Amino acid sequence: EQRNQELREKIMRLKKERNAIILAHYYQRPEIQEIADFLGDSFGLAQKAATTDADVIVFCGVHFMGESAKILNMDKTVLIPDERAGCPMADMVNVSGLKKLKAQHPNAKVVAYINTSADVKAETDICCTSSNAKNVIKSIDAEEIIWVPDKNLGHWVSQFTDKKMIIWEGYCNTHDQLTVDDVRKLKEEYPDAQFVVHPECRPEVVAMGDFIGSTTGILKYCRESNHKQFIVGTEDGVGYKLHVDSPDKEFIFASKYMVCPNMKVNNLKKIADCLETMQPQIYVPEEIADNARASLERMLSVEA
Ligand code: 13P
Ligand code: SF4
Repeated sequence: EQRNQELREKIMRLKKERNAIILAHYYQRPEIQEIADFLGDSFGLAQKAATTDADVIVFCGVHFMGESAKILNMDKTVLIPDERAGCPMADMVNVSGLKKLKAQHPNAKVVAYINTSADVKAETDICCTSSNAKNVIKSIDAEEIIWVPDKNLGHWVSQFTDKKMIIWEGYCNTHDQLTVDDVRKLKEEYPDAQFVVHPECRPEVVAMGDFIGSTTGILKYCRESNHKQFIVGTEDGVGYKLHVDSPDKEFIFASKYMVCPNMKVNNLKKIADCLETMQPQIYVPEEIADNARASLERMLSVEA
């Protein structure tokens, strides 16, 4: 604790010196969520990154999130505390694979989940997050949609449109682990609990949800609900904010395996170090950034 206090003080001092802002995703470790200037889900973080007037953004999340922040702010320095924090789902689609699929469906518009690399985003028409995915699909003026990379989110969204969706076979290792059996057992054990679930989970698990939504959606639902007990089908980091928002409610995480190891590689020491050395920074080539920015800006114009 003494060490953490020293690190927090160092971070506060360096943040002022550099005119930096710390953005953190809800899946980060609690001690990081505690010191963040802004805490959000993928959509909230992209919105904040697009509007901040800080000179330096310290992005505590995974690589594609830092990249998106950089694309929206090419003149700013975007630091990520650990370069190894990637997203395995984002790595499941690459430019050559997407180009092949586009050639097979020349009339389709391409929607990319924000969980994609900058060069993939540059090949798309619009991005989305789980917060605004349904509205993004509604906004598309084509009968065919290529959807990358999350098959589970794609399946969920496809229920709300008549358009033909060509869905890539990617998935989130963390959310895809949750099974119907895991949830069924907990529902038997806690019959009064509501099951809240992220649409990155498998379709049959999502179908069991009393509420289905993005991280911010889950937080809002639990905060505003009259229920007192929830079975939570998403990454374990969300527990921090659920408890801060509703200390009197009970949250039972649906699986102890729903921990994203990439989100957990950041710590206070790495944040202090990156603010000190101003490394590692995110770089995105100008041309890729210009094309990817068009997709991200379209996404930001669609309501969550
Ligand atoms: P949201 O933050 O949009 O809910 O997405 C979850 C996620 O897996 C981020 O990597
Ligand atoms: Fe990627 Fe899943 Fe981790 Fe989010 S939780 S960063 S989608 S692996």
